[in-house]
Amino acid sequence: MPRLVRFSQTGPLKIDPSTLPLDEQGKPKPIFICACGISEKFPFCDGSHKACRQEDPATLYRYDPATRQPSEIGPDESSA
Ligand code: FES
Repeated sequence: MPRLVRFSQTGPLKIDPSTLPLDEQGKPKPIFICACGISEKFPFCDGSHKACRQEDPATLYRYDPATRQPSEIGPDESSA
C-alpha cells in the first residue's frame, strides 16, 4: 500500500504547547499527526487516511490532491 506524496513545505512546523486546546479537565487535547501523507491539513490528520483502508499492499497508488481519490499506478516494485 505505498503511495506517492508531494511535499511543498521547506521547513518544520512548530507546535507551541501553550497554544494547544484544552479538554474539560484543563489538559491539552491530543494532536494527531498525519502518517499517511494525504491529509488536506498536513501535517495534521484530518481523517483522509480512511481512503487508504482498501489499498492492496502490493500496489503503488497516487492520490489526487483535489479529490483525495486514489488511482493505481501499478505493482509496487520497491517491495520486491
Ligand atoms: S493519518 Fe493521514 S489523514 Fe489521518
